[in-house]
Amino acid sequence: MRIGVLTGGGDCPGLNAVIRAVVRKGVATYSHEFVGFRDGWKGPLEGLSRPLGIAEVRGILPRGGTILGSSRTNPFKIENGVERIKENLAAQGVDALIAIGGEDTLGVATKLHELGVHVVGVPKTIDNDLGATDYTFGFDTAVNIAMEAIDRLHTTAESHHRTLVVEVMGRHAGWIALHAGLAGGANVILLPERQFDVEQVAGYVEKRFQHQYAPIVVVAEGAQPLDGQMVLHNQELDSFGHVRLGGIGQWLAEQLEAKTGKEARTVVLGHIQRGGTPTAFDRVLATRLGLQAIDAVHEGDWGKMVAMQSTDIVRVPLAEATRELKTVPLERYAEAEVFFGS
Ligand code: F6P
Repeated sequence: MRIGVLTGGGDCPGLNAVIRAVVRKGVATYSHEFVGFRDGWKGPLEGLSRPLGIAEVRGILPRGGTILGSSRTNPFKIENGVERIKENLAAQGVDALIAIGGEDTLGVATKLHELGVHVVGVPKTIDNDLGATDYTFGFDTAVNIAMEAIDRLHTTAESHHRTLVVEVMGRHAGWIALHAGLAGGANVILLPERQFDVEQVAGYVEKRFQHQYAPIVVVAEGAQPLDGQMVLHNQELDSFGHVRLGGIGQWLAEQLEAKTGKEARTVVLGHIQRGGTPTAFDRVLATRLGLQAIDAVHEGDWGKMVAMQSTDIVRVPLAEATRELKTVPLERYAEAEVFFGS
């Protein structure tokens, strides 16, 4: 078989580990051939490809980002997008596609499967918000980066008796904020899943100062105050209809400074959470998902996404995985609340 591989959406550490595993097993065990499509769905849409063999995947396991490039291209928003993809796959002699992506990239894969394209999906995202899989690779790395930042911020916050508000990514899911906040001993953690009361947050901050410790407040970029709105970077929508979030940290720091009379500053971790080398957990998860994906392709098990359930790598229908976002259950959030303000 000749198999196309693409990576779409926001990049994350571990993408190269998947590509490597797919190619290494595909060539060594099944004697398949590969072609790399560049920049997500833009690759098959515009026929942009590059060679992808054993030589091309040597040494990429620890590298962040993706050797194939990525984009947020939505072929369903482009005239004759699906026909163009089908034509380019045929022109390049590609029998099947492995699409590595999050809800948007895999949403496209789901629809293309329904339209007869041979496709298998691999879930990735630092946000950990895909259904049908317990974890996505990229998440553990992002959490570790955020945790390390929080550890460092504790010491400087103490020295200056300041509140430090740390804004983390995650879009509409609070997984990064919850895990990084718990691991880093944050004073308060605020998630998109539950609107927060600024007065209550200010109360937690005051209490922390009374204990002679400076507070660290972790806020997810999608968190919202009670009766307030999500803070947007601007009003633009991407081709999947997503807004660009960002700014809640600054807004909150200003509120906390005004309410407590203590200086409050903001740190926005941004794309640092997505860059650099993957953790061991993410490398292993990405590798195992890649191995399962090439098995699924070899068996012609189309329309599936490989997933981690408990410690097993299984296959689930793409449609099931992309049906709804996996957000933080409120009872999981409640576990963290015992640490707030103390
Ligand atoms: O989905 C991953 C993610 O990093 C989100 O956490 C964040 O909201 C978004 O992508 C940022 O996207 P971009 O890099 O396109 O601004």
